Amino acid sequence: MPKINVTTASGKTKTITAHTGASMMDALSALGLVEGTCGGAASCGTCHVYFADKSIAGARTEDEGYMLEGLEEFVDIRAGSRLSCQIKITEAHDGINIEIAPDA
Ligand code: FES
Repeated sequence: MPKINVTTASGKTKTITAHTGASMMDALSALGLVEGTCGGAASCGTCHVYFADKSIAGARTEDEGYMLEGLEEFVDIRAGSRLSCQIKITEAHDGINIEIAPDA
C-alpha cells in the first residue's frame, strides 16, 4: 500500500497509507484532511491538493480543469494542482509529497 506524505493547509505533516485503486479524496477525507463535499463529481473544489512534483500529478480531466479555472480567483492554482477525487491511487504514488490547498 502506497504511503503518501501530506502537508495540511495549516502546515502540519503526516504520512498516510492508502489502498491502491482507491480515490485519493476518499483516503484523505477518511482522515479529515479534505472535505470532498460533492462526493467526487469534480464540482466543489474541496479536495484540491498540490503535488510537489507535477510530473507525478498526471493530467487533469476536462471537468477538473474547468473547476480549477473557476477556483483561480479564490485560491492559488499551481502546475501541480489536482482535485484528489479525480485521482486513483497507484503504487506510483508511494513516497510522493502533496499539500492540501487552502479552502476556496
Ligand atoms: S470532491 Fe468535490 S471536487 Fe473533488
